[in-house]
Amino acid sequence: MKIKDSVIFVTGSNRGIGKSYVKALLSHGAKKVYAGMRDIGAFNQIASEWPEEHRGKVKPVIIDITNEGHIRSAVAQAGDVDLLINNAGIANFTGLIAADNLDSARQEMEVNYFGTLKVSRAFAPVLKKNGGGALVNVLSVASLGNFPVLGSYSASKAALHSLTQGIRAELAAQGTQVFGVFPGPIETDMAKDFDMEKSSPDLIAEGTLKAIEQGEEDIFIDPMAVQFRQDYFDDPKALETQLSNFHPG
Ligand SMILES: NC(=O)c1ccc[n+]([C@@H]2O[C@H](COP(=O)([O-])OP(=O)(O)OC[C@H]3O[C@@H](n4cnc5c(N)ncnc54)[C@H](OP(=O)(O)O)[C@@H]3O)[C@@H](O)[C@H]2O)c1
Repeated sequence: MKIKDSVIFVTGSNRGIGKSYVKALLSHGAKKVYAGMRDIGAFNQIASEWPEEHRGKVKPVIIDITNEGHIRSAVAQAGDVDLLINNAGIANFTGLIAADNLDSARQEMEVNYFGTLKVSRAFAPVLKKNGGGALVNVLSVASLGNFPVLGSYSASKAALHSLTQGIRAELAAQGTQVFGVFPGPIETDMAKDFDMEKSSPDLIAEGTLKAIEQGEEDIFIDPMAVQFRQDYFDDPKALETQLSNFHPG
């Protein structure tokens, strides 16, 4: 799929990787970008960072991906979308056993898994109507191996990886190509407490768009992610042991 002249909906686009997606989409010639945000109050401030000629191509849309009313309204406003980027996500940095209760784990599943599933189900008919297009889920290297310090987040991202495989098969019939992005640590608010080398969100955005255009479904971009994929395929048990000792700072 070509980014040029396509119409894209991005969730969680007010900061972090989502914000980089909007910028990259504009610079690659997108026709229109629906910038999904829970709070559109900062939209003008965000828009002031884009070249003036692009600003009219972006429409802010209020969307909390756990809110079915918001999702219905987003679909009603964005019926011309042919590329959906499910980027929104949360990480609570809780262990599976160490957490006081299940609230954190449930919240991560509610946003990262069920929220993404709800948005995907709602936009699938839109993508079909517009010729198939593509759907991108922002996963994580934690989708492939559990980081115990982020145990419940990792589990939610593993579930999202499985979801991605499932909808890839289901949506193939309507001509929608489904992509999964597996970033390592990225320089955003989410990873701010990680004292380790991080890659830029712009690198992930640019790498994702290139992979979409090349039809590469499993997307590993930053150096840590590329190494992680290698370790995962070489010896998954050794990787599990390595992750059990992971302390990010
Ligand atoms: N940073 C990393 O190291 C890293 C690594 C691997 C994967 N990822 C994944 O990359 C994606 C983007 O993360 P990021 O690093 O850019 O994190 P971030 O800076 O914390 O941004 C998260 C974005 O998701 C939005 N969001 C959270 N809950 C939402 C909800 N219920 N409905 C709609 N939007 C919601 C946030 O909106 P608000 O501003 O309203 O909170 C924000 O726009 C996530 O899926 C994350 O899991 C990140």
